Amino acid sequence: MTDGIQAFEVRRDALGETRLVTDPLPEPGPGEALLKVNDFALTANNITYGVAGDAIGYWKFFPPQGGYDDGWGRIPVWGFGDVVASTVDGMNQGDRFYGYFPMASHLLVKAERVNDYGFSDGVAHRAELPPVYNNYTRTSTDPAYRADQEAMQMLFRPLFYTSFFLDDFLDDNDFFGAGTVVLSSASSKTAFGLAWLLHRNRRDRCRVIGLTSPGNVGFVEGLGCYDQVVTYDNLESLPKDPTVFVDMAGNADVRAKLHHHFGDTLAYSCSVGATHWDHAQIGGNAPLPGPQPTMFFAPTQIQKRSQEWGPTGIAERTAAAWEPFVALASGWIDVRRESGPEAVSRVYQEVLENRAKPSDGFILSL
Ligand SMILES: NC(=O)c1ccc[n+]([C@@H]2O[C@H](COP(=O)([O-])OP(=O)(O)OC[C@H]3O[C@@H](n4cnc5c(N)ncnc54)[C@H](OP(=O)(O)O)[C@@H]3O)[C@@H](O)[C@H]2O)c1
Repeated sequence: MTDGIQAFEVRRDALGETRLVTDPLPEPGPGEALLKVNDFALTANNITYGVAGDAIGYWKFFPPQGGYDDGWGRIPVWGFGDVVASTVDGMNQGDRFYGYFPMASHLLVKAERVNDYGFSDGVAHRAELPPVYNNYTRTSTDPAYRADQEAMQMLFRPLFYTSFFLDDFLDDNDFFGAGTVVLSSASSKTAFGLAWLLHRNRRDRCRVIGLTSPGNVGFVEGLGCYDQVVTYDNLESLPKDPTVFVDMAGNADVRAKLHHHFGDTLAYSCSVGATHWDHAQIGGNAPLPGPQPTMFFAPTQIQKRSQEWGPTGIAERTAAAWEPFVALASGWIDVRRESGPEAVSRVYQEVLENRAKPSDGFILSL
């Protein structure tokens, strides 16, 4: 074990500036456990946590040792951690948990609601944050866990959940009367998870069109779950049929062009992501033709379905979709494992600056 916690920090107002800091390795106090962060995935979703860190509060999960005021922050990631020291009954050395971690070598947690299935981090600064991010799942009892699929779980599980509830939300609203769904950043994992679900479940109901950059057309076409792939430059070639727009890119120019092209034939405009973060406009849009973009908030749909489907309904349905998706997506993604501060910094810049390939699945550790 190292003699400190290594943490990768990012300047909150200049995401390209980074540094590595070392905090003292703490002894767990009463009710605390120290987890070694084994590894974690890094995708555009994590960059969006940084982009929206102040607006939505993502910086608050893992405050730097010096507090928030010095301008640095720790971007959250999804990964696996092993207990290395603990004073908590039911959390023993070697127990492995899946959940939300900082880009760091360790995380000290204040374990609450510890049971056979996991625990919740009850540390004071996370109390106001959405509980879904504070819960950690014990791998030994998680029915969805497979040791040989850890990389896919880190890369896709949080994203595929969003894809699943987007597909469900669109169907639940009868596609707002449209017969076409257009997805931006079609090469992103969240987008192609949705495209795969739409194609598999609703092929007779809707056409699925992917918008992407010229360099990613081949990858997106190769997935086989989009009916048509169009570059951003050519979106005005799309037929003006009633269409739903699901926006993963958040690119203000693309969104404006698409709204002007479809006008009132646009049935619904759903804002999901901001992969094009350096062209993104979060809030404060000038009014656009057609329906105004509406943020997708998965917890609203999840809450509705947990009432309608009962306590096990969501888990059963997501598991039934997850298994065939992972089997296919494993063939679409090259898992790239990298380790150490230099590698983490290099890969972070690659993802931030869009130099990664859509087929890259980065699994990192410090
Ligand atoms: N609202 C929610 O609850 C929720 C949940 C999950 C994900 N999301 C969002 O969905 C988005 C997709 O996340 P992901 O992890 O699935 O992405 P990903 O797989 O890492 O996406 C990679 C693709 O995003 C585009 N991209 C990435 N960085 C870029 C840059 N700097 N400039 C221009 N394009 C860039 C490129 O696609 P193209 O060339 O095809 O544009 C690239 O191939 C994120 O913004 C994420 O936050 C939102």
